[in-house]
Amino acid sequence: MAKRTVIEAEGRGELGFTKLPFADVSAIEELAQEIANEFHDVVVIGIGGSDLGTRAVFHALKGSIYNLKEEVRAGAPRLFFAGDTTDPVALQEIIDVVDWQSAALVMVSKSGNTVEQMSVFIYLRNLLLEKVGDEQTKRAIITVTDATTGTLRQITDQEGYRSVAIPSDVGGRFSVLASPGLLPLAIVGVDIRSLLKGAADLRVDDERPAHYALIQYAAYRRTQRIHVIMPYTYNLREVGFWFRQLWAESLGKAKNLEGSEVHVSPTPIASLGPTDQHSQGQLYREGANDKTYTFVTVREPRVNMTIPAAFPRVEGVQYLAGHNFNEILLAEQQSTEVALQEVDRPTCCIVLDRLDEYHLGQLLFFFELATAYAGALFGINTYDQPGVERGKELMYEILGK
Ligand code: PA5
Repeated sequence: MAKRTVIEAEGRGELGFTKLPFADVSAIEELAQEIANEFHDVVVIGIGGSDLGTRAVFHALKGSIYNLKEEVRAGAPRLFFAGDTTDPVALQEIIDVVDWQSAALVMVSKSGNTVEQMSVFIYLRNLLLEKVGDEQTKRAIITVTDATTGTLRQITDQEGYRSVAIPSDVGGRFSVLASPGLLPLAIVGVDIRSLLKGAADLRVDDERPAHYALIQYAAYRRTQRIHVIMPYTYNLREVGFWFRQLWAESLGKAKNLEGSEVHVSPTPIASLGPTDQHSQGQLYREGANDKTYTFVTVREPRVNMTIPAAFPRVEGVQYLAGHNFNEILLAEQQSTEVALQEVDRPTCCIVLDRLDEYHLGQLLFFFELATAYAGALFGINTYDQPGVERGKELMYEILGK
């Protein structure tokens, strides 16, 4: 029934995000190439759905030392993220390291009004004006926003900034495979066509996302209302935060589609293995049986190293010799999963063959579809966010808008 709801909505073209894998991205690629040729540094300004997906893919594919090593960048610009906070200390840290003589701002906001991005954007634009003047500032600002509405659209049209539109039927948290994610990612050399191909190959009628949603839904209806996602690949840690928003903002709803108060609240937790084995593992195994666990592993890592033999007279370390790091990582994941299963904690494991654009595209789209199915099972509106909007309204009141 829930599956039919989603597939029928998709068939009627109502689920904007399901069309994204098949979109023409030539214009985004062209603009990305222009920006990459013109600038040494790019600052992406976004928050929530205008930020988390880009970060997740960037960290998954480019790692954490991308900005530090020129040979890793292969001529592409450095990438910085701002706008996810108005903490001036965090902003100053970015200001201190960016090369402002050759910096572009990619300002991402679907509504075009959000205070975090807008305040950071205004500040950094002003900085650019001081450093490089009016003409270069105009060239250095690229916006990603709605095609027709919002304050950022108005500013874009007035100033003549280069811009790409966000499809009006794609919400922030479902937009990583649309312009908000694709433009910044293409600038740093991510193969966005492969990302989309991976998603496209996971057909909308594939059974697995629906099964995943059903398992989580059934667990929620039992006692497991907390849903832990725990990648065992360091570079997937930000995917956990992206999933956390997708699941929480889509499924945490006060009312069902009939308008009755239901307060649906499947609560996602972004965890990371093996790090959290040594931080949360005790709670996960022996605390209340109120959680499900989704592990994500990668079968063939980009690099692997073997532990050499060492300390021949110390028996306690001999077992490590000859094992490679990925074997150890998988052993850590398997032992955690078995330890949880021993005490009837529900677990599942998503295995990616490799961590590349194609497989990552599949993973992201898998979770987006699963979220759509889960929303249909709960009978709520998966695609609105009245709680977030209310917070924004109150903030505007406080700030005198
Ligand atoms: O997913 C969402 O709808 C939100 O997280 C928004 O992305 C976030 O509030 C930022 O909004 P906007 O991109 O409209 O500035």
